[in-house]
Amino acid sequence: MAPADLEQVLAIQAQAYPPALHETADVFAGKLRAFPASNWVVEGASGLLAYLFAQPARHCLPPPLHDPGAPVAAADALHLHDMAVRPEARGLGLARHLMRQAQAWGRQQGLGWMTLVAVGSASDFWQRLGFVPARARKSLSGYGPAALYMHRPLLG
Ligand SMILES: CC(C)(COP(=O)(O)OP(=O)(O)OC[C@H]1O[C@@H](n2cnc3c(N)ncnc32)[C@H](O)[C@@H]1OP(=O)(O)O)[C@@H](O)C(=O)NCCC(=O)NCCS
Repeated sequence: MAPADLEQVLAIQAQAYPPALHETADVFAGKLRAFPASNWVVEGASGLLAYLFAQPARHCLPPPLHDPGAPVAAADALHLHDMAVRPEARGLGLARHLMRQAQAWGRQQGLGWMTLVAVGSASDFWQRLGFVPARARKSLSGYGPAALYMHRPLLG
């Protein structure tokens, strides 16, 4: 993902989540600056179809929403912060493709886990991709009432 992608990324976000979960252009731009190597897009003939923001983090310490974050010492997990697919491109395997990209990158970095906060009804989807519920050592406030912290091992 590059800064020039952000306008389309914001449009996909607007279709994917309720307004309370929408992050601003500044937060997205900050994530690109802080974690330039771990954000990806899928591009189709008519523009961007999907995106994933991910960032190295500490296992069981999910980063807050609405905050670009900064690199942390002793990161041991790749946190999948936000993944969304344009409605007309869903069901084609793009989310699985982006997750595999993140998986390969995280392994290369020697990180032991992939983690995420499932929002809304997304936990079934993440279970399908191999994630199971885990106990966060930090509040998930801001992610909505159904938020669920999940993880899956990256190595081994
Ligand atoms: C969830 C989302 C990212 C899935 O994207 P997608 O590209 O359609 O997913 P894929 O086609 O790669 O599907 C991967 C697997 O998940 C399954 N799946 C897809 N959507 C699902 C859902 N809503 N519930 C349960 N399983 C789902 C697929 O059947 C597929 O399983 P299989 O490969 O074993 O057959 C997409 O629906 C989306 O953008 N939703 C809104 C944003 C969102 O909720 N993001 C996650 C926030 S935590």
